[in-house]
Amino acid sequence: MPTKNPAAPAFIQIHRDDAQAIRDELAAGLGLPAAQIAPKFLYDALGSRLFDAITELPEYYPTRTEASIFQAHGADMAARIPEGSVLVDLGAGSCAKAAGLFPVLKPGGYVAVDISVDYLRAALGALQQCHADIPMLGLGLDFSQSLALPEQATAWLEERRLSVAPRTAFYPGSSIGNFSPTEALALLRQAHAVCAAGGTGGGVLIGVDLVKPLGVLEPAYDDALGVTAAFNRNLLLNVNRWLGADFRPEQWAHLAFFNQEASRIEMHLQARLDQTVRWAGGERHFAAGDRIHTENSWKWSPERFSALLQAAGFGPSTHWTDASSWFGVFWAPAIR
Ligand code: AVJ
Repeated sequence: MPTKNPAAPAFIQIHRDDAQAIRDELAAGLGLPAAQIAPKFLYDALGSRLFDAITELPEYYPTRTEASIFQAHGADMAARIPEGSVLVDLGAGSCAKAAGLFPVLKPGGYVAVDISVDYLRAALGALQQCHADIPMLGLGLDFSQSLALPEQATAWLEERRLSVAPRTAFYPGSSIGNFSPTEALALLRQAHAVCAAGGTGGGVLIGVDLVKPLGVLEPAYDDALGVTAAFNRNLLLNVNRWLGADFRPEQWAHLAFFNQEASRIEMHLQARLDQTVRWAGGERHFAAGDRIHTENSWKWSPERFSALLQAAGFGPSTHWTDASSWFGVFWAPAIR
């Protein structure tokens, strides 16, 4: 794990795809009276590229709005985050958002957590070249299951004298939006536990998409070019691959709307015609108009989100927004 070269990132892989568990999960979701498939199945290599394309769309405001908030208020954020903190990046991906904040945050260590270490490896390797002085660890962990740092990770921090450094849990992109309020509370409680296990001064820095007019919300998930529709339909190709199913994407329409009551965008795939879908060990008939629920994206008010942070154990939060209050970046200290 630790290598002779201090400028080489370390990697720990905890999560492994379990093909049988994935097949069981997909078949169970397709068998429900209201069929559903979890949004994690949107992201194969093509799905990740389609999502990247979504972030460039004129209608999809979250990515660029969050970036503008970091740009405008990064220094203000840094004033609350002790220099030398360990930045724990949840769903790090390309590590680009965290890397953009290194110059202002001046972290003493960087722990990049993502479900796949394979993708992290290249990104973190390149990043380490630019920041030889920041110890970096890649952690392949499905933190939607559990966020507890594995023993090897705490040992890695210890070896670098980082075990008493404050810890900042960094969760940008409004990825928290995929979690229901109950699930989000559970995740934030775990994030709090991770931060509270470090030195004083730690906390969470999190990007959250806010409630806003329908005319802005809905086009962001149903764009004129049909990129989000392609992203949604690509999920069927992934199900075909994982489950050996025979979904025909062209027979499914993309549906996205704001569910006011639940305060969430819902994405569905709607059967254009009657059809039976078959896979190894199962099948389901869909009538024209039947839906498969593929994603929820919760939208929060600043008041409700700061209450959520406090319920998770954090102290009173601060947040920064854009001029239209479309997106919020929240900081909350991990009081004990
Ligand atoms: C990655 C969950 C933040 O909810 O806005 C974008 C995913 N889905 N367009 C979001 C998504 C359709 C995105 N998150």
